[in-house]
Amino acid sequence: MATTSAQTDSGLFDPIRIGQLQLSGRFAKSATVETRCTVDGYVTNELIDFYEEIARGGTPLIISGAASYNSYSRGVAHQISVDHDDNIEGLKKLADAVHRHGSRMFIQIYHTSRQAIPAGVGRTEAQAPSKVWEPTLGVMPRPMTLTEIEQTIEDFAAAAERCQKAGFDGIQIHAAHGYLISAFLTPHTNRRKDKYGGNLSNRMRLLLETYRAVRRRVGPDFPVIMKLNGSDELPFRRGMSTSELVTVAKMMEEEGLDAVEISAGHYESGTTFSRARWKGFTKTMATEGAGKNMSFLRRNAMRIFAPLVDTFFNFLGGYQEGFNLNYASEFTKKLNIPVICVGGFVHKSAMEKALLDGDCDMISVARGLIADPHLYKHMKEDRQGPVCLHCNACLAVAGVRPATCTNPKLIAPSG
Ligand SMILES: Cc1cc2nc3c(=O)[nH]c(=O)nc-3n(C[C@H](O)[C@H](O)[C@H](O)COP(=O)(O)O)c2cc1C
Repeated sequence: MATTSAQTDSGLFDPIRIGQLQLSGRFAKSATVETRCTVDGYVTNELIDFYEEIARGGTPLIISGAASYNSYSRGVAHQISVDHDDNIEGLKKLADAVHRHGSRMFIQIYHTSRQAIPAGVGRTEAQAPSKVWEPTLGVMPRPMTLTEIEQTIEDFAAAAERCQKAGFDGIQIHAAHGYLISAFLTPHTNRRKDKYGGNLSNRMRLLLETYRAVRRRVGPDFPVIMKLNGSDELPFRRGMSTSELVTVAKMMEEEGLDAVEISAGHYESGTTFSRARWKGFTKTMATEGAGKNMSFLRRNAMRIFAPLVDTFFNFLGGYQEGFNLNYASEFTKKLNIPVICVGGFVHKSAMEKALLDGDCDMISVARGLIADPHLYKHMKEDRQGPVCLHCNACLAVAGVRPATCTNPKLIAPSG
């Protein structure tokens, strides 16, 4: 969708519509798992404070961190849960707090599949399309039965309806990063021989049935968007190409989807969805992050080889501003719904260039808003706040400690 603007050249600060919803600017907070809920996923004041600050910074649209909708979907402790009606009361307080500052908020709903250590969330096993080893965390999942697939679709749709009841402005279906829906789309992770595996329309079936079940529950006017890879970035494995993913997005647009956010990669791509300057990441993750739930052997191997692993991550997924733009532009050419591009943005000039070049319709930012919750306001006022240097220390402890900007060197004086 091409964009033009009457007020500013790039349109970054101009309104845009996502379905029936009018946003005050073309800028969103991309999902970051917050690790600020109670251990079983209930909203806390700490979570509300985190989002209220981002709303106070004028952010037009906030997308929550991945929220789980049943026990198999849960990836880490302390993430948002939308699996019971008794979650609604806390969620409503969160939606109200964000709305008080004029921001809109969507909940991102996801199923972690094979990309979580089951023991970390009190499970003994992981569900996936097929029995395919996940090498970064060392997880061998088990294939879902047809009954489990039907159940997960229903659970997802019920969760979406809870978000609507709680007063959120929309939901985001997480269909990227190798989580369940993405794993069904990808031939490398989906080796099924039934109606959910094989050709593209079969591999898309879970996404499509989930979307339709959500729509039945929330009605035609409630914004439903999805996060999708622009490429699986899985060399030497059978990943999804950009053209196949554009086909998926186009089919979802025809179904009534309201917008798509473009990212890239699975965990086993080298976590290329959060390209970074990886120095120190692996040691912190092994000793203070997900490593805590790994076997003694795996954790210590990671710790010992950390500098080498960091170098490898830099090779696979080194940082560059706007690192998914090449993919996003392919979607923008073909789609009429808004295309949101995430990936490495921190500078107003880079965001404005992306919009001016017509590569996307909206920009979303994750780590930049952890470093500076008032980034949008600062850009609007041409003031410099704290700048994220993409060290990924926040990601290294995700699920164990709240995602905050921990590297004091990154904190420049805030206005
Ligand atoms: C601490 C942390 C947590 C994240 N959690 C999520 C998540 O819950 N859902 C998701 O789709 N992406 C998640 N991501 C990826 C971001 O949404 C985003 O796609 C990626 O970091 C690139 O954007 P950025 O360069 O603006 O950070 C997370 C990233 C970080 C650093």
